[in-house]
Parts: sequence; structure tokens; C-alpha cells
Amino acid sequence: MKKYLKVDPWQIIEEQFNAENHKSSESIFSIGNGLVGQRANFEEDYSGRTLQGTYVAGIYYPDKTKVGWWKNGYPEYFAKVLNAPNFIGIRIFIDEEALDLAKCKVISFRRVLNMKEGILSRNFLAEMPSGKQVEVTAIRFLSMAVPETGAVRYSITAVNDGMEVRFVPYLDGNVVNEDANWDEVFWDQVSHEIKGNEGYLIAKTKKTSLEVANGMLIQAFCDGTEITQPPLNAERSGYVEASYTLSLAKKSKLDIYKYIGVLSSLYHSGGTILGDTKQVLKKAAETGFEKMQEAHTARWRGIWEHSDIIVEGDEEAQQGIRFNIFHLNQTYRGDDPRLNIGPKGFTGEKYGGSTYWDTEAFCIPFFLCTAPASVTRNLLLYRYKHLEKAIENAQKLGYTNGAAFYPMVTMNGEECHNEWEITFEEIHRNGAIAFAIFNYIRHTGDHAYLIDYGLEVLVAISRFWSQRVNWSGEKMKYVILGVTGPNEYENNVNNNWYTNTLASWTLQYTIETIELVRQVDPAKYNSLVNKISFNDKEETARWKDIIAKMYFPYLESQGVFLQQEGYMDKEQMTAAQLDPKQRPLNQKWSWDRILRSCFIKQADVLQGIYLFEERYDTETIARNFDFYESRTVHESSLSPCVHVVLAARLKKMDLAHRLYLRTSRLDIDDYNNEVHEGLHITSMAGTYMAIIEGFAGKRVREGRLVLNPQIPANWKTFAFKILFHGCQLKVTVNNTKVIVKNESNTSVEVIVFGTDYAIAGNSAIDIMRN
Ligand code: BGC
Repeated sequence: MKKYLKVDPWQIIEEQFNAENHKSSESIFSIGNGLVGQRANFEEDYSGRTLQGTYVAGIYYPDKTKVGWWKNGYPEYFAKVLNAPNFIGIRIFIDEEALDLAKCKVISFRRVLNMKEGILSRNFLAEMPSGKQVEVTAIRFLSMAVPETGAVRYSITAVNDGMEVRFVPYLDGNVVNEDANWDEVFWDQVSHEIKGNEGYLIAKTKKTSLEVANGMLIQAFCDGTEITQPPLNAERSGYVEASYTLSLAKKSKLDIYKYIGVLSSLYHSGGTILGDTKQVLKKAAETGFEKMQEAHTARWRGIWEHSDIIVEGDEEAQQGIRFNIFHLNQTYRGDDPRLNIGPKGFTGEKYGGSTYWDTEAFCIPFFLCTAPASVTRNLLLYRYKHLEKAIENAQKLGYTNGAAFYPMVTMNGEECHNEWEITFEEIHRNGAIAFAIFNYIRHTGDHAYLIDYGLEVLVAISRFWSQRVNWSGEKMKYVILGVTGPNEYENNVNNNWYTNTLASWTLQYTIETIELVRQVDPAKYNSLVNKISFNDKEETARWKDIIAKMYFPYLESQGVFLQQEGYMDKEQMTAAQLDPKQRPLNQKWSWDRILRSCFIKQADVLQGIYLFEERYDTETIARNFDFYESRTVHESSLSPCVHVVLAARLKKMDLAHRLYLRTSRLDIDDYNNEVHEGLHITSMAGTYMAIIEGFAGKRVREGRLVLNPQIPANWKTFAFKILFHGCQLKVTVNNTKVIVKNESNTSVEVIVFGTDYAIAGNSAIDIMRN
């Protein structure tokens, strides 16, 4: 854990330059706009420890798999989001000495991420080896309003003496991924062009032939007067620069504006991408930095209007939740069903920027509440578009009849992961994809989605479960053998309770959906039956049999669902009995020891109880919670949030709040000592769930919104807005009451503390808390 950032409700502030923290700060201060994202690398050169990282949505490379022991069914490659050309760079020389914070004396330094406006800024005073001092203020943003553009304003003041300044804005496509399996270069340079203050690069990914075009347009002013002298241009493959030299008198100020265009072949064809980049850039420069910034911050205002959570009385909690909401919105815009959310977003290379079950299990609940239905619909469509590949993936493993096995890790629908215990065994991801469809429908009422796309996915997943189970003559039950549940500290287990529960639930939900679609739109139902050769009578008869006879391990002595068969043969200990020096286990223990221990990496049985909570009474939830929470080490960032929701449900508010702080400030306070690798973007959505579903007790039951708000002891108020069936509600909770305001025009039914209320459009209810 590292606490070096200042607590502030709307900003992340670093007040000192410490090279030790730089890589962590590069992650924490990352900026993005859903199309492009970037670590908070310095504009000027930096020779200290850094991870230069710029990423463009949907631009990936199939990196040939590296694996010791090949298993049939392993993918040939791991698709990675690529480190893309660096477009922010501005090299600075003071009297021909390079300005490099690793080499000069940093007298003062302040870096600020303004989350309200989406602006990254930095101010520092540095003394060059010559003794000359420069003050630099750098501001940049990637436009939310015009997402293919961004801008940097880099200002230099000569503090104690006059100096010659050479500044060299450049574009550099010669970048590599730190995590490349074979140290390959992933880009082919297509073209480069520089003329005066305007430069362009086009690079194309090897194998996937995806193109990225970058453009820069430079304007510079000395004490407000535009510098018109033409720069010296230099160019080579994958690189262009414009070099300007001028004398800067003592106290004079140089302002450099770098307008940026980043376009990709997702939206532009090879033939027009260069021309389009020129157009986009011309428009950006005509708009100017201030107006671009205004439009960008206006967009952020709109985002905060829907998604902010206000916490009064606890600034750390306030900063934590805004940090999470901010990064989620920087990572995913929701307007393109080809894109998804990688566990690290655009802030690092780990996890390859690929899609995991994290999206369905954690991110979708966030977007359902904070963004128009189309955003979640696009996330669902992403999987619909990959259905064919999921069927192929299942075929490779021996499944038939259109059974779909979605990948655990993917970029384009194909499996990328090659650890057998995850690739082949973490089959629960199929259930999360089915559950997300259900969650979307209950939140939005968009039955058309079920008819046009959802049912087809559900049938394919159900066909998978129907083949994945086998009949145990010994138990006289259906069993699911050889799986890994969400708890990856157990592999190849039999009858993981969570997986069996999800499998049987999916079959049931698919049967119900078939009935619904058959009734609502028989023509479309029949055409689907033909398309997928669905023998509905026979297939659903088997599914019903599986539902009726599925085996669910249970531990009578404790009255809890058993995580998997054999779990109790392990030496039973609690996490509290562990020597703190032994934690995190995944850094301190051998894998052999982890696998033999009873310690649980992340919510597993509790993940299932979280999804299907309405099936269980409070005593059952409490028994399971106490049993499993005490054995869980939360070494996945996705774990604490689920425990918060259940702890709050059980009115264990102190524990809920403690776990909440851990999830919400996981990255800001670097709990796991790994933030330099990137941020935990998908778990950030879990933090949102922790407040909304945990503290506010939000649920959806029988088509209605349910709230059971509680407030952590040190909070005065918390307030948030959520979307439900197209209506926006504002909920405010304090120590005495709950106010629910319906901000839409139509009436909404809400159940608060068990009482039903119909709230007319544009009106509010005040309810006293017990
Ligand atoms: C977790 C998985 C998760 C992955 C990516 C792992 O540590 O155990 O559940 O999908 O990280 O976030």
C-alpha cells in the first residue's frame, strides 16, 4: 500500500516528484475517451523508469502463443491491444541540454487529474545542470466531444536567466509492447509525411492489417506572439518531427500547442484515412485549444450528471468512487458493439486489453444504472456478434449441435487464453453472459433484444451446458466435473456450486425465454428454430431433466453450500489466522501450497448468492457469508465488492465499509502494490455496485426497483442517480431519511424498505429511516 496522493473530492493530486512513484502515477493519471487512451507519460523525454503506453480501441495484434506444454484446443495466439504511436511527445532542449526530470533538479512539481473536466495537468520548476531554471505547465486532454482529437498545451517560462530553447514536437510509431511474447515489432510503417508545422504517420498492424493514422499540427507563441519561423523537419520510417529554436528572454513564456488526430481503420478506410486525418486536424486547430477544451468538459458535465455519486462526510470515499466512475467512462463509450472493456482499460498492457467475464459480471451493472440502454445493448451485441466463433470454439473441444463456449479472454471472439485451468475449465463465463442478458432485460424491458438476439445466444449456451453435464449413476444426479470456479485458487474441481447453479439457472431462463418469444413473436421464433435447427421439444425436455436433477454440493454440518466437492478435506483455517507477512499469498506462496490450502481468491459461492439472492433467506445468506468471508483473501480485485453487497444485506455495515474502501481506493492507494502495471478498470464497476447494491440496497424484483438504503457510520449523506426502464431517479440518503426523486415525466413504481410507492413524474418522496 502506498499513500502519496492528496485526498480531494474531484481531483487526484501529486505534489512532489518522486521517481519511485512515477510508473504508478502514469497509470493513475491516465486519460482516455473510449477511442484512445494513454498513460500519463511526460511530453518531454524521461530517462527514468516508465511504461510508455498509448492504446487505440479495437486495434490489436495476435501475438503468437508462448506455452511450455501444448494442449489440443489451445489458441494459436493471445490477441493484445497494441501500444500505439506516441503522439504527445515534445522533446525540449535548454541551451542544447535535454529537459529530463530524471536528470535535472526538480524544485517543485504538481500533477493533477481533474476528474470533473477530464483534464491532466502538470506544473514543475526544474533546474538544468547549467543552473538555469524553467517553469513548465503542461495541460492535455483527449476529447470526449470529438473523440478522434486531443490537444496539448505546453508552456515554458525562463525563470532566472535567458536561454535558447529548442522544442521538437514529434510523432513516433516505433513503439513496442512490453508484454510481447517474442519481442516482435507489431507494426508496419505505411507512410510518413511532415511539412512545416503539420506531420502525419500511418502505421498498420502486422497480421490483422488494422491501420492507425496520427496527425499533429503545431502552433507556438512567445509572450503571446505567434512564432512564424518555419521549423526544421526531419523524418524517417515511423517518425516525423518539427524542430523550432528560439531565444527566450528571462521571464518570457513560450506556449506550444500540439493538436492531435488519431484515426483508425475501424472508422476510416485505407484510401481515405490520411485525408480524413488532415480534415479532423484542421478542424481541431480552427476550433482552438480553449474551445476544444470547453466542448470536452461540457461532455464530462453530461456524464457526471448521470453517473456521479456524491458522498458527504468521507472525502476518501468520495474521491475513491469518483476515480472509479471517471476511469470507467474514459474506457468505454458504448457506441460501438465491436468494442469492449479490458481489465486494465487503456492504462497498461496486462490482460492484453481483452474482454473477460468481468464485463458481464461487473461492468454491465454499472452501465445499466448510469448510461442509456443502448450502451449495455452494445456490450451484449458484442457477444452476439461472437456467437459463431463461440460455436466454433465449442466444436474444437468436441461439442456439437450449435453449443457455444464463449472464450474466457478474447478480442475478436476467438479464445486467447492458454492456461488449461482457465481456458477449458472456467466455464462459468458462459453463465455470466446469459445472466447479463437477463439483467439487461429486467432493467430496461427491451424484449425486442431477446427476440432478435438474446434467445439465440441463450439456446447456444444452454446447448453447451446440456452437453457439459454428465449423469452420475452413483449420485443419481447430473454433475459437472473438472472445472475452475471464479476462485482460481482451486482447479479441476468437481461440482463447483457456483457453476452448477448458473448452469441450471441458464437452462431455466432459456426455457422461460423460449415461451415468451414464442408467444410475443411466433414468426421470429419459428425462423430462429429453423436457423439453428432447434428441436425445442426434445432439447428442452433434457434441459428440464437436468434442472430437476442437478447436483448441488451442500455441507450439512455448517448449513452452507459447499464450494466444491472435497473442499472440506482441506485443512480448515481462516484468513485471520494467516501471518500478515504471508500475504498476498499469490506473491508469497508456491502454487502447490495455494492449491492445497482452503483460502479463496475471490467470491465464489458468495458470487452465486449475490446473483440469486432472492432465493435464500437471511439466515442462509448469513451462514454462507460468515463461512466464506472468513476464508477469502480477496486477491482478485473483483472480490471485495461482492462481499460488500452481501455484508450490507446482512447489516454488517462496518465490514461493508472497510471492504468498500479497499475496492474504491485499490488503485489510488495501491493496495496490491501493482498499480504501475495499470488500473483495475473492471473492478471499478464493482466499486459502484458496492455503493448502489450494497449501501443503497438496490435490487430489481418482479420488474420493480427495490431500495433498502443504509449509510456507513462516518458518512453524512450519499446521493446518486440511476436509470431504470428509461426513467431517471435521484436517490439521496442521509442519517434520517431517504429521498427518491423521479426526474422523468412518467410515473415509476419503487419499493423502499418494503413499501410500494408510485412516484409521479417530476416529483419526489421522502421516507424516514428507521
Ligand atoms: C480474476 C478473474 C478475472 C481476471 C481479469 C483474475 O485475477 O481471478 O476473475 O477475470 O483477473 O480481471
